[in-house]
Amino acid sequence: MSSTPAIDSNAHQKPGLRIPRHLGIIMDGNGRWARARGKPRTEGHVAGAKALRRLVELCIRYGVEHLTAFSFSSENWTRPRDEVNFILGLIRRFVASDLEKLVRNNVHVRIIGERDGLDPAMQRLIADVEAKTARNTGLELIIAFNYGGKAEITQMTRRIARAVQAGELEPGDITEETVERALYTSGIPDPDVIIRTSGEQRFSNFLLWQSAYSELIFIDEYWPDFDEEIFLRALEEYTRRERRFGGIEARIT
Ligand code: IPE
Ligand code: IPE
Ligand code: MG
Repeated sequence: MSSTPAIDSNAHQKPGLRIPRHLGIIMDGNGRWARARGKPRTEGHVAGAKALRRLVELCIRYGVEHLTAFSFSSENWTRPRDEVNFILGLIRRFVASDLEKLVRNNVHVRIIGERDGLDPAMQRLIADVEAKTARNTGLELIIAFNYGGKAEITQMTRRIARAVQAGELEPGDITEETVERALYTSGIPDPDVIIRTSGEQRFSNFLLWQSAYSELIFIDEYWPDFDEEIFLRALEEYTRRERRFGGIEARIT
């Protein structure tokens, strides 16, 4: 048994702050953060992993139910091999060495993205972490790894086409729910808000279907600098947004 206590929820300490049920985060700017300090890009990734640990704790404390973190995109394989290997090592370590702490904090981990083609050790690690945290009822931490929204939509299409081919489904019976069930994110509510750091204002292939009505918040700070103050600033901005979902009045979510 470890002596570190589990993190308490303090959601009640910020009256009036609207807490998203599902927060998506595009963690960008590790390389630029390092360059600005005259350090190699790898140090930016190390600092970025620490920032993700901070965000997980913040989500637990403030009562966010689902956090989807974009850790590695299907396009990030195009980076130099050394950098790819370094990032993969960090993700592996994040998942493996933080497991005990995640379990203690009742975190349920789910990994979304393409698993075919990943090295078998990584596939085993993913399955292991998901199994060991499956019964946890606290924060659901969704790690988008080898994830691309277009790839997800493509594999969803294949799954549905196979069901039609097998005679299990009529094309006319395909609904939005059919699509949602065939995505990696099946069963997870759509993100209420997506935050991207580092000043870039694009999705870079993150949650294309699921972001249809997400509030988008772009912040200038690089990901390794992400802290509670930035988190609260983003949630204050989210609290001010009127979500209309196509109607004429703000809908309370
Ligand atoms: C985000 O930081 C981490 C990953 C995409 C894996 P970057 O590595 O993209 O940092 P910049 O955008 O080059 O500064
Ligand atoms: C998006 O960042 C992917 C992740 C944060 C994992 P990138 O740095 O890969 O995005 P682009 O290349 O600037 O669009
Ligand atoms: Mg980047």
